[in-house]
Amino acid sequence: MSSIDPEKIKFKTLYSAEDIQKRIETLGAEISKDLQGEPVMFISVLKGAIMFTADLMRSIKAPVTLDFIGVASYQGTTSTGTVRITNDLSTDIRGKNVIVLEDIVDTGRTLDYLLRMLKQRNPKTLKLCALLNKPAAREIPVQVDYCGFEISNQFVIGYGLDLDQRWRELPFIAQVYET
Ligand code: IMP
Repeated sequence: MSSIDPEKIKFKTLYSAEDIQKRIETLGAEISKDLQGEPVMFISVLKGAIMFTADLMRSIKAPVTLDFIGVASYQGTTSTGTVRITNDLSTDIRGKNVIVLEDIVDTGRTLDYLLRMLKQRNPKTLKLCALLNKPAAREIPVQVDYCGFEISNQFVIGYGLDLDQRWRELPFIAQVYET
């Protein structure tokens, strides 16, 4: 699929904007309950998690702070296998309750790398919340503490997720087809 022209793809809606909002409200309630009023710091993984972050933050009933981290591992529809930090945090996470917000966990390489790196910075707690999870694509085990939707091994776009930097603006999540 890596030869797909991002401008000429075909796609089919998997989750509508309404499906996504409903699920996020439930996730927000679950996270708020677990926090029991304690403050939390969200670390949003750029760029795919931005919409998810904005919506999830508004459904949390506890004090929330936010930072961003930039990670790159994909080109087209294939993982390059190498993870690198393109933009580090601007705040210290030591002693904080941290939840990493990711758009999708695929092979697990990105999150395995990122969670290990963040753990070394001594947060009080460190959890992962992923909008989407593709367990069938997993190469490295990763504990997903909160998950929006589990999907099969397919490439998806929209609601922050891209194909070569396109289609993030779609308000829904769609499955990509080869043309
Ligand atoms: P992993 O390291 O293979 O788990 O990949 C994680 C990253 O790959 C995600 O943060 C996404 O940026 C990207 N990715 C994996 N699957 C998809 C997909 O279906 N659509 C868009 N991006 C994806």
